[in-house]
Amino acid sequence: MATQSIQPREAGALTMDKLVSLCKRRGFVFQSSEIYGGLNGAWDYGPMGVELLNNLKAEWWREMTFRDNIEGIDAAILMHPKVWEASGHVENFTDPMVDCRTCKARYRLDVLFEELSVKKQKELMRQVEPGFPIPAEEERFVDEFKKKVEHEPQKFLAILSCPNCGNKSTFTDARKFNLMFKTFVGPLEDSGALVYLRPETAQGIFVNFLNVQSASRQKIPFGIAQIGKAFRNEINTKNFLFRTREFEQMEMQFFVKPGSDVEWFEYWREARMKWFQALGMRADRLRWHRHEPDKLAHYAKDAYDIEYAFPFGWGEIEGVHNRTDFDLSRHEQFSGKSLKYFDEQNKEKYTPFIIETSAGASRSFMAFLADAYSEEAAPTAEGSTETRVVMKFNPRLAPIKAAIFPLVNRDGMPEIAERIERDLRPRMRVFRDESGAVGRRYRRQDEIGTPYCITVDSQTLQDQTVTVRHRDTMLQDRIASEKLLPYLTERFAVP
Ligand code: GAP
Repeated sequence: MATQSIQPREAGALTMDKLVSLCKRRGFVFQSSEIYGGLNGAWDYGPMGVELLNNLKAEWWREMTFRDNIEGIDAAILMHPKVWEASGHVENFTDPMVDCRTCKARYRLDVLFEELSVKKQKELMRQVEPGFPIPAEEERFVDEFKKKVEHEPQKFLAILSCPNCGNKSTFTDARKFNLMFKTFVGPLEDSGALVYLRPETAQGIFVNFLNVQSASRQKIPFGIAQIGKAFRNEINTKNFLFRTREFEQMEMQFFVKPGSDVEWFEYWREARMKWFQALGMRADRLRWHRHEPDKLAHYAKDAYDIEYAFPFGWGEIEGVHNRTDFDLSRHEQFSGKSLKYFDEQNKEKYTPFIIETSAGASRSFMAFLADAYSEEAAPTAEGSTETRVVMKFNPRLAPIKAAIFPLVNRDGMPEIAERIERDLRPRMRVFRDESGAVGRRYRRQDEIGTPYCITVDSQTLQDQTVTVRHRDTMLQDRIASEKLLPYLTERFAVP
């Protein structure tokens, strides 16, 4: 799903540059192979990033599999090549691509036009179709322009200058480019050894439908959940983690009786939107986008995307699809093996319909980062104010749960801080910081979203109490140090 150039976020707030820079500075995300100049479309999760990502995936896994009607699976990334013929990916998983004949720059056709300013789009439209009635509402014009380009790309390509070299009329005709990465199994690189890196995790679930059903003795309706890497050779990667060539998906396929699919589709739509909000994502930065009937993927009867208001505009983070019986029927056809379900109770045999919830772990990760980002005025120890950057993650997502500071490095305070660290560390990720002014130590934790900072001070020496400072309000509680563990675990508990 393409993003729009609309800025739904308040002016002056988060930009992508700020987000990327914080991610690098604080160890959330690094460019892949940075010392060699990086690899386009690939990113590495650093010490804070891997914690946040793991917490996010654990939340999803719990949400999905802590039920009696969903089982988990972890299928191989490499699958039999026929899987991708059956799924339609060999034939249909393509993007239209054009090249500039002069500078050889390569573009995805829709992205090439989408990234033009609305003013430029209007200019092109007037040139291609002088009498075209341009709608006053910008969003409607952008939609209509997109449709026109899709319908008659050559007319627009003929008058567009290449964004890279500036030459006009240099684009090739649009041609299809398959997004699947190819590789070979075994030592011979011939067509018989060709396999693909999976472009989605879903197919590993479909082909295992009967294995899982019979091993777990599930009855329809039931689901299978999986988290794993997927690979797409995107023509143009963009917007940090939004469109990358390697990413992670969290997919759940729910198998239902035909006829009950519409009801289950609504159930899962509601459940998925609630999940993001329950983890703290702001409701006004989430919206539904329904795929128009003529834009539905080849397998879908109905499809909605959950979109998040990123700093660059709205972008899809999860798709909820009614995939009908397309997948199981196709795998039956291509494998020659029956994938029908036998309903013992009603003595009926049928091919189940599938309701899919397909979230990007990487995109959701970026959405949670963007959503958590906040800049606030905060008082300094000297009585002035400064801007504090604070990542307001839901405590269950936060990479570090608590930081422990001795106020000063003497009078036995470091030893007490070490003891507290030893008590807490087996139960949660904690961090002890003894360096710098305490205000600066708070700011460092704010930037990685640590919800609680525990300070050992002179009063601790007298009554064994410590202060617990709350990240969002900056208010402090004073509690007995021996009560810290129950105090904190209660705050990270699943509601
Ligand atoms: N099985 C259905 C499927 O894969 P999709 O809409 O192509 O549907 C699902 O992908 C989710 O995977 C998207 O909502 C997005 O979060 C994530 N995703 C897809 N392509 C991606 C890419 N190139 N980079 C990062 N995430 C991507």
